[in-house]
Amino acid sequence: MASKKGNVLIGVSASIAIYKSLEVISLLKKRGFSVKVAMTREASDFISPVVFEALTNSRVYVDVLEEFDNPDDTNITHIALAKWADVFAIIPATSNIIAKIANGLSDDAVSLLALASEAKKLIAPAMNSSMYLNPITQENIEKLKKYEFHIIEPVEGDLACNTKGVGHIADVCDIADAIESLSSEKILFGKKVIVTAGPTVESIDPVRFITNKSSGKMGYAIAKAAVDFGAYVTLISGPSNLRKPFGVDFVNINSAYEMLDELKKRIENYGDCVVIMAAAVSDFKPKRYEKLKIKKRSGNDKLVLELIQNPDLTKEINRFAKEKGIKLFTVGFAAETDNLLKNAIEKIKKKGLEFIVANDVSRNDIGFNTDENEVSIIYKDGSMERLPKMNKYDVACEILRRIE
Ligand code: CTP
Repeated sequence: MASKKGNVLIGVSASIAIYKSLEVISLLKKRGFSVKVAMTREASDFISPVVFEALTNSRVYVDVLEEFDNPDDTNITHIALAKWADVFAIIPATSNIIAKIANGLSDDAVSLLALASEAKKLIAPAMNSSMYLNPITQENIEKLKKYEFHIIEPVEGDLACNTKGVGHIADVCDIADAIESLSSEKILFGKKVIVTAGPTVESIDPVRFITNKSSGKMGYAIAKAAVDFGAYVTLISGPSNLRKPFGVDFVNINSAYEMLDELKKRIENYGDCVVIMAAAVSDFKPKRYEKLKIKKRSGNDKLVLELIQNPDLTKEINRFAKEKGIKLFTVGFAAETDNLLKNAIEKIKKKGLEFIVANDVSRNDIGFNTDENEVSIIYKDGSMERLPKMNKYDVACEILRRIE
């Protein structure tokens, strides 16, 4: 049965990084993909196909000859499997399988499917660095790129031969992200999108600061979804523990003023673009930054902090873009605890937004640090749409579908 997210065929070849393919499969299953596996005979000596069968609930394709040996009709032909896949990803890909595919050989299940499948293709190489950097391997990889194979480059790391170097398979989350991106519709192809996320941090002294409550999850999900939809994406983020989504241009900031500087720089660089302000910008900052740590003083158990307002970044960037003749499509968020809709409508007008995504942060099941969100979208003409409760990635996709 086809899944809502798509069908992914994983080709597994015999590298010591083979266990990473299990992790990628489990991530893809969690994200809602249907997954099937084909392995080379040598790979099946490393990990039994039974393990992959248990993970995917599906028969693993290892031997071409099995197609003809089909007493119970449970075997799937390589052509049917090739057609079933939306994405064919080879994880891990040895120098041998890369060389075979680059030269049109098809004498094992993986190289055979690479030739037979018209799906989008991704290769995650994993091998010793000398083998990877060898000009023959590099030439094979270049050849595959020419034939529209996407390569997720290996990274520096520990290698099986007890050395360190380039050739360590890419991060499993990055591989899953790259597969998800390949399977997405490219509705924002070529668009430039800037997303702000997370809190800003306003320092009081070298060890203290004030900040806003924000995990960054909503903004990071929007940045990831925008990459999946084919946009160039810059993510400007305050401090967050989240993993940088694969494929974004990532900028780390602390204060609201730093966020404003980066926004202006990127807007000037991009020209006409979409800006999605998901960050929880601190409205106030200490009037004075104390260079030395503020000490407790005997006889005085109070500390009075004078706060001043930060600029409204959305207003500032709209003004800046206007001066530069740049067209912005600006989307804001309204995190409210009461009078959700009334406040959201006021913010659209005040900040010059196309629409605002409003959520009620007084609820525990959605909002801060949760994986789900239930939002309403309020447009500048006053119309409103209520979206059902969804995970934040799906909310992000819905927000991006409303961008013109
Ligand atoms: N925002 C901004 N600059 C600020 C504060 C907020 O650009 N100094 C942006 C946020 O990123 C969000 C939107 O404005 O997209 C609304 O943020 P919110 O905190 O709900 O509103 P405020 O403007 O701060 O108003 P208030 O706190 O009084 O509700």
